Amino acid sequence: MTMVEPEVGVGSAAATAAVRLTGLTKTYPGPPRVQAIDGIDLEVAPGEMFGLLGPNGAGKSTTVGVCTTRIRPTSGTAEVLGLDVSREPARVKRRLGVVTQTNTLDRSLTLYENLYYHCRFFGVRARTARVRAEDLLERFRLSERAAAFPDQISGGMAQRLQVARAIAHRPRLLFLDEPTAGLDPQSRLALWELVEQLRSDGLTVVLTTHYMEEADQLCDRVAIVDHGKVLVCDPPASLKARHGAGAFIELELERALSAPVHAALAGITGVRSVEATARGVRVMADDSEGLLARAVEAAGPDGVRDASAAGSTLEAVFINLTGRDLRE
Ligand SMILES: Nc1ncnc2c1ncn2[C@@H]1O[C@H](COP(=O)(O)OP(=O)(O)OP(=O)(O)O)[C@@H](O)[C@H]1O
Ligand SMILES: [Mg+2]
Repeated sequence: MTMVEPEVGVGSAAATAAVRLTGLTKTYPGPPRVQAIDGIDLEVAPGEMFGLLGPNGAGKSTTVGVCTTRIRPTSGTAEVLGLDVSREPARVKRRLGVVTQTNTLDRSLTLYENLYYHCRFFGVRARTARVRAEDLLERFRLSERAAAFPDQISGGMAQRLQVARAIAHRPRLLFLDEPTAGLDPQSRLALWELVEQLRSDGLTVVLTTHYMEEADQLCDRVAIVDHGKVLVCDPPASLKARHGAGAFIELELERALSAPVHAALAGITGVRSVEATARGVRVMADDSEGLLARAVEAAGPDGVRDASAAGSTLEAVFINLTGRDLRE
């Protein structure tokens, strides 16, 4: 087992981006041939909590896979903590932690052992590894189940253990690929809290998600990705201010959206867009004042079954940029 060597030839932390992707592409040869990453440029600053937000198949996991050396890029470069991932995969790997989208806990080891052997694998001495595993179990509220096996614990606990393991070798950069997918709301909130603590410890975190609330709540900056491209990259508040709608409402209709109702909705003052959806229509406007009532009235001829209104969210940003729903 090798210990982590001193940082030779690596610039100061302030000058070196935690992640720098330049003209990155990845084509899976197939068949079918898939261009999963289609020219991504982005930089994550040290200490930042950075979000990759996008729908299924956007290329989020492929991007994380390239950064964590699991996937070879087709062209372009990926630098992690100042190191080129293609040239120095072993050094890169020691400096980062990753929670992949699928559970990769060792089922034949207890929770404690999953942490202990991970530390040993990364060259941590036995005594230190023991203390560290115990501390992490405590911190992630898993101590009581230390002797349990991964298939005996809940999904939320398994995710907490995966995050604990990912930081057990003390990386400076952590990748979380859809860490809360499939968790119930309570477990999701618990994980958000833990991730926020990691950030306040100074760790750089890159998180992928298709939950806009998650990106909005946790991230300093968010890159919205679709079809392997970054559409926009900014703090959530700026994204909402620039690309969000002041308000958007959804109407569920009894019949398919008719041309006269479409025209009546589009004619309401301040309405920016009117779009048919699977169950009715979506209206985006500059301002929410009186919008719902006027829209319900205008859509009357098509039979309004249900109506809901929401303020500006990252979801509205995504719909505005792509014309699609994140969940569609
Ligand atoms: N090993 C592979 N071989 C071939 N195609 C792949 C492979 N892995 C991913 N893809 C394809 O590449 C595209 C991007 O996939 P990727 O998993 O990076 O997306 P994602 O944003 O992580 O999606 P999800 O939200 O479903 O996790 C998709 O079209 C996917 O089907
Ligand atoms: Mg994925």
